[in-house]
Amino acid sequence: MTDHTTINTAWERLAKRLEEQPQRTLTELFADDAGRVAAMSQRIEADLGELGELGMLLDWSKTHLDGAILDAFEELADAAGFGAAREALFGGGIVNITEGRAATHGAMRGSGTDADVEEGEALLARMGMLVGAIHDGALGEIKHLIHIGIGGSALGPALAIDALTRDLKLVDVHVVSNIDGLALEQAFAACDPATTLIAVASKTFTTTETMTNATSALKWLADNNVADPSGQVVALTANPEGAVEWGVDETRILPFPESVGGRYSLWSSIGFPVAMAVGMADFQAMLAGAQAIDTHFREAEGRANAPLLAAFGDLYYTRIRGCQTRAVFAYDERLALLPDYLQQLEMESNGKSVTSDGKPVERPTAPVTWGGVGTDGQHAVFQLLHQGTHLIPVDFIAAIAPGDDLDPAHHRSLLMNCLAQGAALMAGKASDDLARHYPGDRPSAMFLVDDIDAATFGALIAFHEHRTFAGAVLMGINPFDQFGVELGKAMAKSIDSGEGDFDASTAALMAAAGLA
Ligand code: F6P
Repeated sequence: MTDHTTINTAWERLAKRLEEQPQRTLTELFADDAGRVAAMSQRIEADLGELGELGMLLDWSKTHLDGAILDAFEELADAAGFGAAREALFGGGIVNITEGRAATHGAMRGSGTDADVEEGEALLARMGMLVGAIHDGALGEIKHLIHIGIGGSALGPALAIDALTRDLKLVDVHVVSNIDGLALEQAFAACDPATTLIAVASKTFTTTETMTNATSALKWLADNNVADPSGQVVALTANPEGAVEWGVDETRILPFPESVGGRYSLWSSIGFPVAMAVGMADFQAMLAGAQAIDTHFREAEGRANAPLLAAFGDLYYTRIRGCQTRAVFAYDERLALLPDYLQQLEMESNGKSVTSDGKPVERPTAPVTWGGVGTDGQHAVFQLLHQGTHLIPVDFIAAIAPGDDLDPAHHRSLLMNCLAQGAALMAGKASDDLARHYPGDRPSAMFLVDDIDAATFGALIAFHEHRTFAGAVLMGINPFDQFGVELGKAMAKSIDSGEGDFDASTAALMAAAGLA
């Protein structure tokens, strides 16, 4: 861990160095360097054998990063101990300092110490056996799966299933996270209790929303004449004892290590509903795609390391240019849930105010991540991106291969729009009529993947995990804890118990809502 003084000094040096340089516009950057596109883009490829192929083109040329900025950031990365932190991540070091834990999500897909990888393989084999047995009818006919979890125990599975099951879904999966009973009722309405499996996904197996929903789901099975309701329950957890106590049979508990963080847990048994929906072969392809990015992240140095380069861009805009948000627009319906997923990954990981050694940070940390799908966003919020007063770096994500079988005009138009937006944000358009003036010089990055198959999907997610980790290292913060979520939970409990001293506004609202 690099101490806050070293990190702060490195940031001051970087800021000073960048202040001394002329800030060039995007158009100037292109005019000054005919080789800019080649220099600022990178194609990542991997042949994954029978699991498929991976190909994605990342283009950072429409950002303000240039050679001098990258030199400064590479120096910062050295000062921040990026190399050692990366080795600690994969080497099972205690990178989650405040909780005294390693972060071994990489090992769940084959990247980590021998012991951690072996454990990951054993857990995966166990999951594979259960998935296979259920597909083969060991629990009777299973047509539906209600996956109950929240935050990291829901967002990854929901995204992966939405992204990868457009063509074929082996089981009809409903992901339910909210405590609002409407969410669960909606799932019940779409499922037949006799052929529904309930997966209770909770790292801690104590989360109120999940345990309340799980109890209601069990009751729903019982109320609908299922002879052995708990026989239709699977638990996905790092607290197997808690699951046993709650009544799940040990044979249907899929554990994962405590050192796998909630928002990094898609690769572990939390991915069970994904495997149920797409089959183990595709699940393994997803892991292999992610592992290919692990290898790239472990081996590539400096600006050639794509997640690190992305983190340079993120921090340049947040800490040097004062951007408070970052937008992600997927020009692909299959990735409609990606912004939600990235919100948790980035905001829960890096939305911090203290350094890893417990001192207040001196510059902003994670921006607000937001976004949606294109082309929808163009007709709703892009006005602000083009002409608003905020500078917002945008990531565009699109696939060369279409996800649909309709007239190719659909996909062609989707891609044309995506590329046009990046070009328009950069170029702008001058007009004497200020209402019609586009200032331009607005940055964007492009992720153009060959296809959205399981391997590419895994790679995209792992890329963002490492981008987030790299950003945390450069800021000197711990991306693996989330103490900020606890106070609200405790206060909700106090409202429930009627104890606690509430402010006048909350007390009045409690009375108005019938809670007091
Ligand atoms: O409240 C935040 C959080 O702890 C997340 O970090 C986590 O992903 C989510 O709740 C769910 O936690 P669990 O998997 O333990 O139910």
